[in-house]
Amino acid sequence: MSTSTLSQPITVTDTFPINGTDFIEFYVGNAKQTSLFYQHCFGFELIAYKGPETGCRDLVSYVVKQGKIRFVITSAFSPDHEISKHVALHGDGVKVLALWVDNAADAYQKAISRGAESAFEPITTKDENGEVTMASIKTYGETIHTLVERSKYTGVFLPGYAPKSSPVKVNSLGFKYVDHCVGNVELGQMNKWVKFYEEVMGFKLLVTFDDKDISTDYTALMSKVVSNGNGFIKFPINEPAAGKKKSQIEEYLDFYKGAGVQHIAIATDDIVHTVESLRNNGIEFLYVPDNYYDTVLERVGKIDEDLNDLKRMNILVDRDEEGYLLQIFTKPIQDRPTVFFEIIERHGAKSFGKGNFKALFEAIEREQELRGTL
Ligand code: FE2
Repeated sequence: MSTSTLSQPITVTDTFPINGTDFIEFYVGNAKQTSLFYQHCFGFELIAYKGPETGCRDLVSYVVKQGKIRFVITSAFSPDHEISKHVALHGDGVKVLALWVDNAADAYQKAISRGAESAFEPITTKDENGEVTMASIKTYGETIHTLVERSKYTGVFLPGYAPKSSPVKVNSLGFKYVDHCVGNVELGQMNKWVKFYEEVMGFKLLVTFDDKDISTDYTALMSKVVSNGNGFIKFPINEPAAGKKKSQIEEYLDFYKGAGVQHIAIATDDIVHTVESLRNNGIEFLYVPDNYYDTVLERVGKIDEDLNDLKRMNILVDRDEEGYLLQIFTKPIQDRPTVFFEIIERHGAKSFGKGNFKALFEAIEREQELRGTL
């Protein structure tokens, strides 16, 4: 009998495996109050804390969780601390988009060898619950991607954090996971960052929107969406395009003082309930006029939800070849018109609501007009 060599299996190689979003860290002016905002208004559960009481002398961090989503809310005490300087410059904002990997040192070395800039080198921290290795690379603006390896850790969050529970009863609003995180970058920088995600982190370009897709009479923007190997991580990158007036991206860049995270999209299975609860808790959303709903079903076809509920909650609908999606955008969640949230419920659609762009942008322009920044 002869033997033969098996041919190579045909597989698509993921050159930078990521299991999912590990956490998102906000640098803010008052972490205690901001963490209560996420508990009371967004229904996150407080799970962990780090601060003077746990031996951390220079800063405090509160960790809140809902579904698979973990937010870390951090403030520093001294005005000279890099976190305080970050807040002074950018206002409250997102510093870390942390990614869960199997081998942080390996992923870091790979990223550096492919041209990434280091934010910090691999470091292993330990406590009685095991050990975690983290390393970090820089992305647009002052934002960083921290790579987190936690397979040998059983504690509540990371070594150094103590378990802490919410002082009030928190009602979950049905947040499931982070659907996508959007970055705003300066004019002419979008392609540089798309290339970064492609070359350094093995992401693929998913979709491109040009200024013809995304424009109104006044403003325009361009956007490219990149996604990692397993599709769990999606990062749309926006840059301003020339319009008659100042675009929403320029307004963001002016107020954030540079590139940064624009919005975080949160997936839910019951958007009507989620949005109704958020509204009852005081969260404000962008407004689209009632006449949006006059023609929406002609555009998107049959949907499971009652159109009256969507109209009442001002939820938008869009469809692609694979299904439909429901989405809505909050107003900025801090005083500067910078970071906001999207709530999204997908019914098969994998796209980003292109059919809603015009209605949305007009809604944003109405807000800009009120702020005098259009
Ligand atoms: Fe989005």
